[in-house]
Amino acid sequence: MRPQVVAHRGASAAIAEHTLGAYVEALNVGAEALECDVRLTADGHLVCVHDRTLKRVAGKRGVVSTMELADLAELDVAKWKNPWTDLADEEPDRDERLDRVLTLRTLLETVRDYTAVHGRRVELAIETKHPTRYGGLVEKRLVELLREFGWDGPDAPVRVMSFSFTALQRIERLAPGTRLVQLVEHSRNWSLLRSAIGADWIVGPGIKELRQHPRLGESIRRSGHEIHVWTVNKERDLDLCLDLGVSAVISDKPAAVFGWLAARGLPL
Ligand code: G3P
Ligand code: CA
Repeated sequence: MRPQVVAHRGASAAIAEHTLGAYVEALNVGAEALECDVRLTADGHLVCVHDRTLKRVAGKRGVVSTMELADLAELDVAKWKNPWTDLADEEPDRDERLDRVLTLRTLLETVRDYTAVHGRRVELAIETKHPTRYGGLVEKRLVELLREFGWDGPDAPVRVMSFSFTALQRIERLAPGTRLVQLVEHSRNWSLLRSAIGADWIVGPGIKELRQHPRLGESIRRSGHEIHVWTVNKERDLDLCLDLGVSAVISDKPAAVFGWLAARGLPL
């Protein structure tokens, strides 16, 4: 079995991360799952944003958790990726909804509607970011939203990821059966995590850590946990994942990963 191809923040090498445009592109190239980070706004909305602040993606001062959704909705979070777009004469008028801060609700609706129209299962790998001033409220809101979609159980096309073991424990308590991915930032954390996480939890190491600590991958594999690896953007990194037998690769370049898999004769 080849690994599932997961679009990291959408097709984020090509299109600005976490925008609807990046996710639509990911779906168009056949991504089998979409990864996103979530943060809570001051008025309680889950939005897909990686950084704590807006500086990198909107060029503005501001902390996501102190702002209301209506203020975030004013921002263009795509221009940083391609600052010359406005100057290109032949650029067609662009639907600005593709370039705005995306709510998790809209992303869930997009996946639900895509699946209904195309009859192709697409999954979501949702990462809750910590530390945050709202602590466990993030997981509470997330479970409430997933429940609205009927996606709060084991058969849902959703898994929840976090570097925070505590955050995943909250999900386990609030929505038993939801698939969980314990992200591993440092190799040195693995032995402690191994003794703490649930038997059916997935483990998510980063590719750099796997390269720097060759015994890490082998140790996770021997533990019997399913493995999802981020962020797999190079052919040689995909090979490492294939050797390890991982079940998902999370990439900024989902189309390239499909090409590399095809070149290895693996079924698409
Ligand atoms: O998929 C997990 C990965 O996204 C974790 O790192 O910083 O890209 O959220 P980061
Ligand atoms: Ca992430």
